[in-house]
Amino acid sequence: MISFTFNGVELKGQSGQSVSAALLVNKERINRYARFSGAPRGLFCGIGVCFDCMLIINGQPNLRGCLTEIQPGMIVEVQNDH
Ligand code: FES
Repeated sequence: MISFTFNGVELKGQSGQSVSAALLVNKERINRYARFSGAPRGLFCGIGVCFDCMLIINGQPNLRGCLTEIQPGMIVEVQNDH
């Protein structure tokens, strides 16, 4: 198991999981808020095509959670484009 934080809260993930999958297992479904509508977005395609899973990871925005493997100590934050 791996510890990481999401919006300042410590969560657990499993080695080899994507960030978005680890969030989903922890019942966190919102990865970002859409730029114009402000609608919540999360894991949708799961293969890097839709960009609905963009997050801020270790301070870097616009990273796709479905393509990023969770790492110990990773700091993950919801991305608010609205
Ligand atoms: S869920 Fe579609 S790009 Fe990540």
